[in-house]
Amino acid sequence: MRNWSKNQPGSLLNWVKLGGLSKLDNSTLGAIMRRDLHGRRILITGASSGIGRCLAEQLAQLGAHVAMAARSKDKLGELEASLKSRNLDAFAVAADVTVEEDRRRLIEQTAQQFGGLDVLVNNAGVASWAHFAHSTESILRHIMEVNFFAPAELIRLAIPILVEGEQPAIVNVGSMCGRRGMPAWSEYSASKFALSGLSEALRAELARFDIDVLLVLPGLTRSEFSRHLLQSAGRLKIDFTAGMPPEQVAGHIVRVLQKNVTESVVGREARWMLRCQRFFPRLLDRLIARRVRKLYESTE
Ligand SMILES: NC(=O)c1ccc[n+]([C@@H]2O[C@H](COP(=O)([O-])OP(=O)(O)OC[C@H]3O[C@@H](n4cnc5c(N)ncnc54)[C@H](OP(=O)(O)O)[C@@H]3O)[C@@H](O)[C@H]2O)c1
Repeated sequence: MRNWSKNQPGSLLNWVKLGGLSKLDNSTLGAIMRRDLHGRRILITGASSGIGRCLAEQLAQLGAHVAMAARSKDKLGELEASLKSRNLDAFAVAADVTVEEDRRRLIEQTAQQFGGLDVLVNNAGVASWAHFAHSTESILRHIMEVNFFAPAELIRLAIPILVEGEQPAIVNVGSMCGRRGMPAWSEYSASKFALSGLSEALRAELARFDIDVLLVLPGLTRSEFSRHLLQSAGRLKIDFTAGMPPEQVAGHIVRVLQKNVTESVVGREARWMLRCQRFFPRLLDRLIARRVRKLYESTE
């Protein structure tokens, strides 16, 4: 039995989630909803580096049982050993989220190991930094597989187990590019927009099961992301070292889970960009297009 609705009946929660209290902002909702992460059974994809790795560390330190997935067996094994040496409960599963069999095994092994699942964090992601005209179909398809189809299918597999969980939630790690498409991140932006749309639709669909769907939209982060790019041919120089530390984004995700914040943007630059997008979308279109034209001026 869940204890989520101890203080508030499920029907009120559903009403709030579906917009009955639309005038309340996220911080107000946060004040009345609190998820205790101690003892929660949490699966994180993309836990071998960057944000996912930091998140696994932080959640394990809060007393959660953490299942960590990625392709890099060695890195996961090392993280698992490090957490276990501190008496924290962690469990590594080498899996490629684009492979159906791996996704099924990942959900089954996690549920078996912990006796269920309370939170699924879809964090694994890849990108390509290049202009669409010079990119390829296989890159587009790969990005959509990792960033959109994999989280979507993991959610489908996890729903029957989450329904039985305590304060169940799905956290989708999107991107600022999932609310404002950016040049040279075209395939990535498309994949993250798809994830944003899926999150919004499922939030209403899954409210009847009391499963919360939370969307986190980080800005530039100083992780291994730049080293994992499928290609890096964009003309603008992006300084990933100036991005937020992954620990900051992970800390934000922890708070999002504790306070049940449905959608949040991480990072000052990202917040500014999305504010401009909201109030001056046409102006932003023009400014960005002018910048891109300038970058190509000398060669075209
Ligand atoms: N860094 C940024 O500036 C930034 C900004 C906004 C949003 N984000 C989002 O934040 C999330 C985490 O990225 P990060 O910044 O922490 O980058 P990262 O350090 O490159 O981490 C990406 C993780 O995804 C895993 N992954 C990639 N392909 C996979 C696959 N096919 N199967 C399983 N795991 C796979 C990687 O592990 P393996 O290689 O071992 O499989 C790695 O653990 C991503 O969804 C990204 O889109 C990042």
